[in-house]
Amino acid sequence: MSEIKTVLVTGGMGYIGSHTVIALIEQGYQPIIVDDLANSSPEVLNRLKIITGKDIPFFKGNVCDKAFLEKIFSSHKIDAVIHFAGFKAVGESVEKPLEYYRNNLDSTLTLLEVMTEKGVKNIIFSSSATVYGTPVHVPLTEEDPIGTATNPYGTTKIMQEKIFTDYAFVHKDFNIALLRYFNPIGAHPSGLIGEAPYGTPNNLMPYITQVAVGKLPRLTVFGNDYPTPDGTCIRDYIHVCDLADGHVLALKKLAQNPGLVIYNLGTGKGTSVMELIHAYEKATGVKIPYVIAARRPGDVAENYAGTLKAEKELGFKAKRTIFDSCADSNRWQQKNPKGYN
Ligand code: UFG
Repeated sequence: MSEIKTVLVTGGMGYIGSHTVIALIEQGYQPIIVDDLANSSPEVLNRLKIITGKDIPFFKGNVCDKAFLEKIFSSHKIDAVIHFAGFKAVGESVEKPLEYYRNNLDSTLTLLEVMTEKGVKNIIFSSSATVYGTPVHVPLTEEDPIGTATNPYGTTKIMQEKIFTDYAFVHKDFNIALLRYFNPIGAHPSGLIGEAPYGTPNNLMPYITQVAVGKLPRLTVFGNDYPTPDGTCIRDYIHVCDLADGHVLALKKLAQNPGLVIYNLGTGKGTSVMELIHAYEKATGVKIPYVIAARRPGDVAENYAGTLKAEKELGFKAKRTIFDSCADSNRWQQKNPKGYN
């Protein structure tokens, strides 16, 4: 057993990172945030202070900047790292492949180099269900093979997993958790933090919430001719606070020196696009106008998580319902129609 107390959170100002910072504080850990604010707002820090009552150490900078990282590791006794920082827009990654490969791979390489130099041996990596590629069956389990991603963003997740795996092979004293997220939605119940994409949202839930506040006129449903019961795609939507709790459980696992471990973080339940729209309307009383359009290239018909491994080995089980997620996403957006601006 090794004691983990101070946790460096890269990308800690982002959507999943900020919710995880709260979960860490609630469970008695000391987070330190590193973020370059490329895709997040400095206002998140104020909101985190209101929610937790704590001044959380924050360093503005890029994880690819080795000298910057070394300074932080030299001036703090860091026990573990949770690595969220990275570019994450699927469509943009097709337009800007070099930027995606450079940023996402360099940040992981630099982090591992600095951790090696400084003797920090515990890390959780933000991976994605996208590494499975087109599912051969559902639920997807951790034993299923890594597939082929349909975009550079997904490929960076696969390549980063590979970097961690090769590293772990020769550094047996290193503990690494690769957490494969399904579709995070929802927000902290306070309505003070949530998902705040720049520009028009690419993902379903932030699109729905912006329709709900009248920022966008209607939702476009991408395809209703999939081989699913209502013809729309099925995903595993997990409340971001459940996802955050999963990270704390993974830290507890790392403290037992397990080496490299891999877990899905999902609910195990699939929800179609139409079911999500109806759940949102039911949970909030807000009508979501929509039109049906063609399929979006690269979308798979159905994916949801096998959850047995995370349940057995981490004690992880998603607690919040799809209605909780809808109500919380809506509360966040109603209170912050312009995000953090
Ligand atoms: N959808 C719509 N209209 C929209 C947006 C989405 O109908 O305006 C549909 C999509 O076609 C899909 C479903 O809603 O069927 C979910 O789409 P999202 O974009 O919200 O989520 P994805 O499952 O495509 O992507 C998520 C993450 C990625 C990750 C991917 C695979 O956002 O980071 O899962 O794991 F790579």
